[in-house]
Amino acid sequence: MSIRLGPFTLDHPFILAPMAGITNSPFRRLMRRMKSSMVVSELVSANGIEYGGQKTLDLLRFHEEERVVGLQVFGERTENLVKACQVVERLGADFVDLNLGCPVPKVVSKGAGSAMCRNPSELGRVLAEMVKSVKIPVTIKIRTGWDANSRNALDVVNAAADAGVTWVAIHGRTRAQGYSGLADWEFIARVKEKSPIPIIGNGDIHTPEVAVEKMRHYGVDAVLIGRGALRNPFIFEQAAALWAGESYLLPEASRYIALIDEQKKMLHECYPARSAMIHARKFLAWYSSGFPGCHEFRGKVFATPDPDVLWEEARLFFEKSAKERDLRFMAQPFLMGGHG
Ligand SMILES: Cc1cc2nc3c(=O)[nH]c(=O)nc-3n(C[C@H](O)[C@H](O)[C@H](O)COP(=O)(O)O)c2cc1C
Repeated sequence: MSIRLGPFTLDHPFILAPMAGITNSPFRRLMRRMKSSMVVSELVSANGIEYGGQKTLDLLRFHEEERVVGLQVFGERTENLVKACQVVERLGADFVDLNLGCPVPKVVSKGAGSAMCRNPSELGRVLAEMVKSVKIPVTIKIRTGWDANSRNALDVVNAAADAGVTWVAIHGRTRAQGYSGLADWEFIARVKEKSPIPIIGNGDIHTPEVAVEKMRHYGVDAVLIGRGALRNPFIFEQAAALWAGESYLLPEASRYIALIDEQKKMLHECYPARSAMIHARKFLAWYSSGFPGCHEFRGKVFATPDPDVLWEEARLFFEKSAKERDLRFMAQPFLMGGHG
């Protein structure tokens, strides 16, 4: 049940959403192995790329195994955005995505992120410059609008289509909503109906069943799954199975253990020990939610200073607990802040 998205043929329409501080190269690689049908980096500053600082360049690194892989940029200056597109192309990424959904005051106060969508015709000119400057597809990720009184996503989509943008991903909340309330999928569907280019829907997909329901019910070309993949890293393969008309088995303890072993290896390959620990703690806490004893396990994870003890505790936890998960945990709100 493959799909076409611009020039790419993907195995299915379930895609990991970009998340700053989370969807780094090792996690994107892991999620490609777990069958996310493509991946995109977290937002990277176009002004930072112009500066060429090491931290910024590190964020642009990706592994061949990640393909199809996009790098996401943000910024308010057309000349820097154009240069950023060219750097992304030179680095060999498959597409460049512009973040137009970030609601964070530090970003929008400069006129970047979701602020750029307030004036679709001006945005269209910037996008046209970006598209003209590279051969790889330029894509965008937006919100439904600035606030409830200005949900102008369709105007943004039309301006983007005229500029030659390949697809638009829509997080179904306004900038003013931040992460509160629910994503408005009816609104996304109405934009999709009138859009001349592919639309990827996004927001509040916590289970594989909901992922497939969003695809079928709202007619979008694909969906992005963010936080749902943190509590259930198997969500892509499960959704793909349902999409293909098959069922899926809940993962056994051995699959969690194999997953954390792979993640441990990748984190330690990519980061110094201290940073690897910081990342490991977050992921282990998310993966454990809903399993018996998860609160106690999290306490241990955040208290242990020794990486070997940490991973061993994790192994023991999943061996013992990855049987009866309380799936009500999946829909509980968490991580209510981010850059898109
Ligand atoms: C911690 C965090 C960081 C995020 N960082 C980014 C980002 O760098 N770029 C972006 O376009 N969206 C970012 N987002 C937004 C997500 O891609 C997604 O639109 C949002 O979380 C809603 O989808 P979900 O309900 O499936 O998580 C971030 C979200 C979170 C929670």
